[in-house]
Amino acid sequence: MSIVYLNTEYLPIDQAKVSVLDRGFLFADGVYEVIPAYGGHLLRMQEHMQRLQNNLDAIRLENPLSHQQWQEIIEKLLLDNPNTGPGDDKSIYLQVTRGASAIRNHGFPQMVKPTVFMMVNELAPVNKESLKAGVAAITLDDIRWKACHVKSISLLGNILLRQQAEDVGAAEAILISDGLVTEGAACNVFVVIDNILVTAPISNRLLPGITRDLVLELAAAHSVTYEERNFTEAELLTASEIWLTSSTKEILPVVKLNGKPVANGQFGPIWENMIDLYRAYKEKLQAGGAF
Ligand code: PDD
Repeated sequence: MSIVYLNTEYLPIDQAKVSVLDRGFLFADGVYEVIPAYGGHLLRMQEHMQRLQNNLDAIRLENPLSHQQWQEIIEKLLLDNPNTGPGDDKSIYLQVTRGASAIRNHGFPQMVKPTVFMMVNELAPVNKESLKAGVAAITLDDIRWKACHVKSISLLGNILLRQQAEDVGAAEAILISDGLVTEGAACNVFVVIDNILVTAPISNRLLPGITRDLVLELAAAHSVTYEERNFTEAELLTASEIWLTSSTKEILPVVKLNGKPVANGQFGPIWENMIDLYRAYKEKLQAGGAF
């Protein structure tokens, strides 16, 4: 049974309970983070904490814990949840909501303690060979709100879009807003156009992914030409490579889009170079490197 953290307590998951008046439950009034831990080492903890702070600021909620407290709780949870599967990769899910007030009212309550919840999930072992197979995706109209940069627990739009993709046998939906590609239902999107790696610039239309930033950083450090610019659905449809990035997916090639092969229907050379760079970075982290 996994051990989770809820409002100062460490509990077996089936004993962790929140009030039905919690604003996370009633309004999806909260934010979350997903942080990978490779070999017990947190990937980009500082950046995840900064994004959490930005999100809390965006929803006008005070950070209930200091950086050191977050770090200590996560480290304890990792110790409390030893491996049960073959890999040593985990993801930490953490969520902060505006807490439970006595009555349901849209406006912020006075003097309510935020609810803090954290759990550890196993990450299925990912290797280059399994990633090489790639996935199918479809394009869908981005029906979400205008603050997609906030990592809100209100994910109904994302859920409906992902399910629409799964219903037709695709792994992910790539979202189009006013003719431009924004991101996936639960990931960022990269394309290769004329041998240049392209991803949409940071804006209110997409989540500033930590993996996205790491990919751009690795590209800059290893002379992979890239551009952060808007690109159209037409450019997506003719791209020579399409990738999905997230903390749980790493860098995943899309080999089929809307039922048609992407280029020759195989992963591309720029992806192969990038996944090697990413995995070298990950191995250093697993071995205890400081990042
Ligand atoms: N989702 N865009 C959306 C809409 C996402 O939900 C995610 C990640 C990303 C990628 O962000 P990062 O590289 O920081 O994981 C982009 C997480 C994994 C989730 O909801 O489970």
